[in-house]
Amino acid sequence: MKSGFVLWFTGLSGSGKTTLSKSVENKLKSMGIAHVQSLDGDIVRKELTKDLGFSKADRDENIRRVGFVAKLLSDNGIPTLCAFISPYKDVRNEIRQKCVNFIEVFVKCPIEILMERDPKGLYKKALNGEISNFTGVNDPYEEPENPEIIVDTSVESVEESTEKIISYLVEKGLIVL
Ligand code: ADX
Repeated sequence: MKSGFVLWFTGLSGSGKTTLSKSVENKLKSMGIAHVQSLDGDIVRKELTKDLGFSKADRDENIRRVGFVAKLLSDNGIPTLCAFISPYKDVRNEIRQKCVNFIEVFVKCPIEILMERDPKGLYKKALNGEISNFTGVNDPYEEPENPEIIVDTSVESVEESTEKIISYLVEKGLIVL
């Protein structure tokens, strides 16, 4: 059996983590990989971590729980796609150490563009002081230092970024075309 892997999408809210992760999931399935698991911040926070907020301690706990699940799945050969802001470097690296084939994907986009896009209206609220601890506005985001993959969603199409990720997986022998 092919070994599993964890694709860890990190980036600011609205940067395109969920969209890209879904697109990669669909692509993997279309290539005949039957079992792929996505774990997404907005869903996981409703089901697995609804007791947690957005303090550093709570975000770290959120990521640790998800990391634990991702390890269980990927150790059993299931490609696991995680889309979380995961703003803190140390806890991302902690998960990296625990998972075999951990691939960090930095989903980059200038914050000015995110503030313009703002589909959930969250940046507007944060800028108005209605949301505290909002990543990138009044809470930190620590950029990955050595991500395996960087995508810039302000210039790349979803298809281009998806292709970049698939090519990386092929190159590393984690999937076969
Ligand atoms: S993480 O920091 O713990 O990794 P996660 O990815 O699970 O965050 O959740 C982020 C989502 O929660 C955002 O896309 C947004 O919809 C919502 N959210 C609510 N409050 C905040 C906040 N203060 N900072 C960032 N996102 C928030």
